[in-house]
Amino acid sequence: MIINIVGARPNFIKISPIIRELNKYSIPNYLVHTGQHYDWNMSGTFFNELDIPTPDKFLNVGSSSHAKQTSEIIEKFEKICLELRPSLVLVVGDVNSTLACALVASKLNIKVAHVEAGLRSFDRTMPEEINRVLTDHMSDFLFVTEQSGLDNLATEGIAKSKVHFVGNCMIDTLIHSHKSAEKSTILEENEITSKNYCLITFHRPSNVDKIDNLKDIVSLINEVSQDLPVVFPIHPRTKKKIKEFGLNLNKKVLLLNPLPYLGFIKLLNHSKIVITDSGGIQEESTFLGIQCYTCRDNTERPSTIDIGTNHLVGSNMKNIKENLTEILDENFKEGSIPQFWDGQAAKRIVKILKDNI
Ligand code: UD1
Repeated sequence: MIINIVGARPNFIKISPIIRELNKYSIPNYLVHTGQHYDWNMSGTFFNELDIPTPDKFLNVGSSSHAKQTSEIIEKFEKICLELRPSLVLVVGDVNSTLACALVASKLNIKVAHVEAGLRSFDRTMPEEINRVLTDHMSDFLFVTEQSGLDNLATEGIAKSKVHFVGNCMIDTLIHSHKSAEKSTILEENEITSKNYCLITFHRPSNVDKIDNLKDIVSLINEVSQDLPVVFPIHPRTKKKIKEFGLNLNKKVLLLNPLPYLGFIKLLNHSKIVITDSGGIQEESTFLGIQCYTCRDNTERPSTIDIGTNHLVGSNMKNIKENLTEILDENFKEGSIPQFWDGQAAKRIVKILKDNI
């Protein structure tokens, strides 16, 4: 039996095509939701829209410090592994749930598969970078989304026989859901005109947890809203910090709660540009050919820059503000789609697992 792990929002999007494919071949699989994300709009709605089965086990860990959240998952997940003795634990992405469950399985000599292996920002101050490196080094099957992943794993001395270039499960879901997303009425509901707004998302602790950084971000958003309508679905972490630091967004900024998947994809696909610090949105915008401005100093997804429509603009919001006219009007890039981002990644993954476990 395979145990699949999900915990946070981006995990749900990646697991959906894998479960569908496992079920196609009647491969026994069991779904554990750690509860790292738990609000309806951060979790439940994704299960509904992406046809993910109800989790067999919900660990209910909730939000806390990294050590507490990770250790609580470890303790609870070990009991499940001891009881069920799976032949493989499959983890996706780079969140704390990914690392915690990979560690439990590897200590019990249960095989680990990591979907989205090999990505590196080379910035160890990012919690996700630690999660990526450690998870990869504990994994038996490393499923890679882009060329840089192959290069990074080779540099780190991971045996080639464990590494499989399969493509991108997040794009599998995007392709699978594209038609349904287009049916979303989110533009009409919010009186937004297609191709005439800037979509904004910010949630990284490095950007939003420090008052000076968040002040600069709010000021950038307010400035953009003078030139172009701004739509900002706000992550709970960011909302909390804006309130805590007493910052004010311009009334022109359309603030929305975190959105369900289909509505968000429609909003992304119809935006003029997106400004973000997200990992997944860099990939989704590359697939959709939307100009994406990533407010970070590095990216673990370099193919979105080299091949796609992503621009790495750094984390200094003052620099970005100074170049706003260029960003909004001139700096457009023709992109293409990275290899194997073709909707077949989960098929490749399940074929490899079927033949090897
Ligand atoms: C986590 C992941 C990050 C991923 C992001 C996607 C780690 C280390 N971080 O960050 O890689 O990009 O998810 O969203 O695993 N909260 C709610 N409702 C929820 C969940 C969280 O209100 O359902 C609030 C909590 O009060 C918490 C804050 O949001 O303090 C942040 O949540 P947390 O899970 O700690 O990390 P994210 O910033 O979401």
